[in-house]
Amino acid sequence: MAHTYVITGASRGLGLEFCNQLAARGDNVIAGVRDPSRVTLPKGVRVEPLDLTQDASIFAFAKALSGTTIDVLINNAGIYINHGTLAEFASEDLAASFRVNTIAPFVLLKALRLSMAGGLKRVVHITSELGSVSLNNGGWSYAYCASKAALNQIHRTISLELGRDGFTCVAMHPGWVRTDMGGPDAPLLPPESVRDMIATIGRFTQADNGRYIERTGQTLPW
Ligand SMILES: NC(=O)c1ccc[n+]([C@@H]2O[C@H](COP(=O)([O-])OP(=O)(O)OC[C@H]3O[C@@H](n4cnc5c(N)ncnc54)[C@H](OP(=O)(O)O)[C@@H]3O)[C@@H](O)[C@H]2O)c1
Repeated sequence: MAHTYVITGASRGLGLEFCNQLAARGDNVIAGVRDPSRVTLPKGVRVEPLDLTQDASIFAFAKALSGTTIDVLINNAGIYINHGTLAEFASEDLAASFRVNTIAPFVLLKALRLSMAGGLKRVVHITSELGSVSLNNGGWSYAYCASKAALNQIHRTISLELGRDGFTCVAMHPGWVRTDMGGPDAPLLPPESVRDMIATIGRFTQADNGRYIERTGQTLPW
Protein backbone atom coordinates (compact mmCIF):
# COMPACT_ATOMS: atom_id res chain seq x y z
CA MET A 1 0.00 0.00 0.00
CA ALA A 2 1.33 3.44 -0.94
CA HIS A 3 2.00 5.92 1.85
CA THR A 4 2.57 9.65 1.82
CA TYR A 5 6.03 10.92 2.78
CA VAL A 6 7.20 14.48 3.31
CA ILE A 7 10.95 14.93 2.80
CA THR A 8 12.82 18.14 3.62
CA GLY A 9 16.12 19.07 1.98
CA ALA A 10 15.07 17.11 -1.09
CA SER A 11 17.15 19.06 -3.63
CA ARG A 12 20.28 16.89 -3.29
CA GLY A 13 22.10 14.34 -1.15
CA LEU A 14 20.09 12.03 1.08
CA GLY A 15 16.83 13.95 0.63
CA LEU A 16 16.94 13.56 -3.14
CA GLU A 17 17.74 9.86 -2.75
CA PHE A 18 14.76 9.39 -0.41
CA CYS A 19 12.59 10.90 -3.18
CA ASN A 20 14.14 8.61 -5.82
CA GLN A 21 13.63 5.39 -3.90
CA LEU A 22 10.19 6.15 -2.45
CA ALA A 23 8.79 7.39 -5.77
CA ALA A 24 10.24 4.36 -7.59
CA ARG A 25 8.32 1.98 -5.34
CA GLY A 26 5.05 3.92 -5.76
CA ASP A 27 4.78 5.95 -2.57
CA ASN A 28 3.42 9.49 -2.66
CA VAL A 29 6.29 11.90 -2.10
CA ILE A 30 6.10 15.58 -1.20
CA ALA A 31 9.48 17.27 -1.46
CA GLY A 32 10.31 20.46 0.40
CA VAL A 33 13.02 22.43 -1.40
CA ARG A 34 14.35 25.96 -1.08
CA ASP A 35 14.11 26.79 -4.78
CA PRO A 36 11.84 24.49 -6.81
CA SER A 37 12.98 26.10 -10.10
CA ARG A 38 16.50 24.73 -9.56
CA VAL A 39 15.77 21.07 -8.85
CA THR A 40 14.88 18.06 -10.96
CA LEU A 41 12.98 15.45 -9.01
CA PRO A 42 11.56 12.11 -10.17
CA LYS A 43 8.26 12.12 -12.05
CA GLY A 44 5.25 12.17 -9.76
CA VAL A 45 7.03 13.84 -6.84
CA ARG A 46 5.16 16.91 -5.64
CA VAL A 47 7.51 19.80 -5.02
CA GLU A 48 6.75 22.64 -2.62
CA PRO A 49 8.94 25.60 -1.62
CA LEU A 50 10.39 25.37 1.87
CA ASP A 51 13.06 27.58 3.40
CA LEU A 52 13.73 26.33 6.89
CA THR A 53 15.31 29.58 8.03
CA GLN A 54 11.86 31.24 7.86
CA ASP A 55 8.91 30.27 10.04
CA ALA A 56 6.63 31.95 7.45
CA SER A 57 7.91 29.57 4.78
CA ILE A 58 7.37 26.57 7.06
CA PHE A 59 3.78 27.60 7.79
CA ALA A 60 3.10 28.32 4.09
CA PHE A 61 4.42 24.83 3.29
CA ALA A 62 2.09 23.32 5.90
CA LYS A 63 -0.83 25.33 4.53
CA ALA A 64 -0.17 24.07 1.00
CA LEU A 65 -0.36 20.52 2.39
CA SER A 66 -3.54 20.99 4.42
CA GLY A 67 -6.11 18.44 3.29
CA THR A 68 -3.35 15.89 2.58
CA THR A 69 -2.86 13.07 5.07
CA ILE A 70 0.84 12.64 5.76
CA ASP A 71 2.07 9.24 6.94
CA VAL A 72 5.78 9.87 7.41
CA LEU A 73 7.66 13.13 7.95
CA ILE A 74 11.39 12.91 7.28
CA ASN A 75 13.12 15.97 8.73
CA ASN A 76 16.24 15.55 6.63
CA ALA A 77 17.56 19.02 5.70
CA GLY A 78 20.68 20.08 7.54
CA ILE A 79 23.79 22.26 7.40
CA TYR A 80 27.37 21.65 8.53
CA ILE A 81 29.50 24.69 9.25
CA ASN A 82 33.01 23.38 9.60
CA HIS A 83 34.52 25.25 12.51
CA GLY A 84 36.34 22.72 14.67
CA THR A 85 38.38 24.99 16.94
CA LEU A 86 37.54 27.66 19.47
CA ALA A 87 39.58 30.15 17.46
CA GLU A 88 37.42 29.56 14.37
CA PHE A 89 34.15 29.47 16.23
CA ALA A 90 31.66 32.29 15.56
CA SER A 91 28.42 32.74 17.44
CA GLU A 92 26.44 33.41 14.25
CA ASP A 93 27.44 29.95 12.98
CA LEU A 94 26.02 28.38 16.10
CA ALA A 95 22.78 30.35 15.65
CA ALA A 96 22.51 29.45 11.94
CA SER A 97 23.12 25.76 12.71
CA PHE A 98 20.51 25.71 15.46
CA ARG A 99 18.02 27.44 13.16
CA VAL A 100 18.17 24.76 10.43
CA ASN A 101 19.24 21.64 12.34
CA THR A 102 17.31 22.06 15.58
CA ILE A 103 14.55 24.66 15.50
CA ALA A 104 13.18 24.09 11.99
CA PRO A 105 12.40 20.35 12.40
CA PHE A 106 10.51 21.21 15.58
CA VAL A 107 8.51 24.05 13.95
CA LEU A 108 7.74 21.91 10.89
CA LEU A 109 6.42 19.06 13.02
CA LYS A 110 4.29 21.54 14.96
CA ALA A 111 2.91 22.89 11.66
CA LEU A 112 2.22 19.46 10.12
CA ARG A 113 0.99 17.66 13.20
CA LEU A 114 -2.72 17.94 12.35
CA SER A 115 -2.10 16.69 8.79
CA MET A 116 -0.46 13.60 10.29
CA ALA A 117 -3.33 12.72 12.62
CA GLY A 118 -5.00 10.26 10.23
CA GLY A 119 -1.80 8.66 8.94
CA LEU A 120 0.91 6.32 10.20
CA LYS A 121 2.19 9.11 12.49
CA ARG A 122 5.88 8.39 11.91
CA VAL A 123 8.45 11.16 12.32
CA VAL A 124 12.11 10.69 11.45
CA HIS A 125 14.64 13.26 12.55
CA ILE A 126 17.78 12.76 10.50
CA THR A 127 20.38 13.46 13.13
CA SER A 128 24.02 12.39 13.42
CA GLU A 129 26.23 10.31 15.67
CA LEU A 130 28.08 13.63 16.04
CA GLY A 131 25.09 14.71 18.14
CA SER A 132 25.93 12.05 20.71
CA VAL A 133 27.54 13.61 23.78
CA SER A 134 28.99 10.32 25.01
CA LEU A 135 30.55 9.42 21.62
CA ASN A 136 32.12 12.87 21.21
CA ASN A 137 35.86 12.45 20.72
CA GLY A 138 36.41 16.06 19.60
CA GLY A 139 37.64 17.64 16.41
CA TRP A 140 34.28 18.17 14.78
CA SER A 141 32.30 21.34 14.19
CA TYR A 142 31.15 22.90 17.46
CA ALA A 143 28.01 24.25 15.85
CA TYR A 144 27.03 21.03 14.09
CA CYS A 145 27.59 18.75 17.11
CA ALA A 146 25.76 21.09 19.46
CA SER A 147 22.81 21.59 17.09
CA LYS A 148 22.39 17.84 16.53
CA ALA A 149 22.70 17.15 20.28
CA ALA A 150 19.96 19.71 20.85
CA LEU A 151 17.88 18.11 18.08
CA ASN A 152 18.26 14.78 19.89
CA GLN A 153 17.03 16.34 23.13
CA ILE A 154 14.05 18.04 21.45
CA HIS A 155 13.30 14.80 19.62
CA ARG A 156 13.22 12.96 22.95
CA THR A 157 10.85 15.52 24.46
CA ILE A 158 8.56 15.54 21.41
CA SER A 159 8.42 11.76 21.41
CA LEU A 160 7.24 11.76 25.02
CA GLU A 161 4.47 14.24 24.19
CA LEU A 162 3.35 12.87 20.82
CA GLY A 163 3.77 9.23 21.83
CA ARG A 164 0.64 9.66 23.90
CA ASP A 165 -1.22 10.38 20.61
CA GLY A 166 0.16 7.30 18.86
CA PHE A 167 3.15 8.92 17.12
CA THR A 168 6.42 7.09 16.57
CA CYS A 169 9.28 9.62 16.54
CA VAL A 170 12.80 8.36 15.88
CA ALA A 171 16.16 10.15 15.58
CA MET A 172 18.25 8.39 12.93
CA HIS A 173 21.93 8.63 11.93
CA PRO A 174 22.35 7.82 8.21
CA GLY A 175 25.99 6.73 8.44
CA TRP A 176 28.87 8.67 6.91
CA VAL A 177 27.63 9.18 3.36
CA ARG A 178 29.22 10.60 0.20
CA THR A 179 27.14 13.75 -0.31
CA ASP A 180 28.08 17.43 -0.45
CA MET A 181 28.02 17.34 3.35
CA GLY A 182 29.70 13.97 3.86
CA GLY A 183 32.47 14.67 1.34
CA PRO A 184 34.35 12.40 -1.09
CA ASP A 185 35.98 10.17 1.56
CA ALA A 186 32.73 8.89 3.02
CA PRO A 187 32.45 5.10 2.70
CA LEU A 188 28.71 4.92 2.02
CA LEU A 189 26.85 6.02 -1.10
CA PRO A 190 23.41 7.64 -0.77
CA PRO A 191 21.47 4.70 -2.31
CA GLU A 192 22.88 2.29 0.29
CA SER A 193 22.25 4.57 3.27
CA VAL A 194 18.73 5.48 2.16
CA ARG A 195 17.83 1.87 1.31
CA ASP A 196 18.70 0.89 4.89
CA MET A 197 16.85 3.86 6.39
CA ILE A 198 13.67 3.17 4.39
CA ALA A 199 13.75 -0.48 5.46
CA THR A 200 14.20 0.54 9.11
CA ILE A 201 11.38 3.11 8.93
CA GLY A 202 9.15 0.40 7.43
CA ARG A 203 9.73 -1.80 10.51
CA PHE A 204 8.87 0.88 13.07
CA THR A 205 6.36 0.05 15.75
CA GLN A 206 5.30 2.33 18.57
CA ALA A 207 7.90 0.61 20.76
CA ASP A 208 10.52 2.50 18.71
CA ASN A 209 9.14 5.86 19.79
CA GLY A 210 11.84 8.09 21.30
CA ARG A 211 14.81 6.03 20.11
CA TYR A 212 18.15 7.32 18.80
CA ILE A 213 19.43 4.82 16.24
CA GLU A 214 21.72 4.33 13.28
CA ARG A 215 20.35 3.50 9.86
CA THR A 216 19.85 -0.23 10.38
CA GLY A 217 18.12 0.21 13.73
CA GLN A 218 20.98 -0.25 16.23
CA THR A 219 20.65 1.97 19.29
CA LEU A 220 23.14 4.82 19.65
CA PRO A 221 24.22 6.16 23.05
CA TRP A 222 23.02 9.67 23.86
N1 LIG B 1 26.27 12.94 4.70
C1 LIG B 1 26.61 12.47 5.88
O1 LIG B 1 27.66 11.81 6.06
C2 LIG B 1 25.72 12.71 7.07
C3 LIG B 1 26.11 12.11 8.29
C4 LIG B 1 25.28 12.30 9.40
C5 LIG B 1 24.13 13.03 9.29
N2 LIG B 1 23.79 13.61 8.10
C6 LIG B 1 22.55 14.37 8.04
O2 LIG B 1 21.78 13.95 6.94
C7 LIG B 1 20.95 15.03 6.47
C8 LIG B 1 21.14 15.19 4.96
O3 LIG B 1 22.51 15.46 4.73
P1 LIG B 1 23.19 15.40 3.28
O4 LIG B 1 24.47 14.68 3.46
O5 LIG B 1 22.22 14.94 2.26
O6 LIG B 1 23.52 16.96 3.09
P2 LIG B 1 23.63 17.84 1.75
O7 LIG B 1 24.01 17.01 0.59
O8 LIG B 1 24.50 18.99 2.15
O9 LIG B 1 22.13 18.36 1.54
C9 LIG B 1 21.54 19.21 2.49
C10 LIG B 1 20.11 19.47 2.10
O10 LIG B 1 19.54 20.33 3.11
C11 LIG B 1 18.93 21.45 2.43
N3 LIG B 1 18.92 22.66 3.23
C12 LIG B 1 19.97 23.25 3.86
N4 LIG B 1 19.55 24.40 4.42
C13 LIG B 1 18.23 24.54 4.13
C14 LIG B 1 17.25 25.52 4.42
N5 LIG B 1 17.54 26.63 5.11
N6 LIG B 1 15.98 25.34 3.98
C15 LIG B 1 15.67 24.23 3.26
N7 LIG B 1 16.55 23.27 2.94
C16 LIG B 1 17.83 23.43 3.37
C17 LIG B 1 19.77 21.64 1.18
O11 LIG B 1 19.06 22.43 0.24
P3 LIG B 1 19.82 23.43 -0.82
O12 LIG B 1 20.17 22.57 -2.00
O13 LIG B 1 18.79 24.46 -1.11
O14 LIG B 1 21.03 23.98 -0.11
C18 LIG B 1 19.98 20.19 0.75
O15 LIG B 1 18.84 19.72 0.09
C19 LIG B 1 21.38 16.26 7.27
O16 LIG B 1 20.48 16.48 8.33
C20 LIG B 1 22.74 15.87 7.82
O17 LIG B 1 23.06 16.55 9.01
C21 LIG B 1 24.56 13.46 7.00
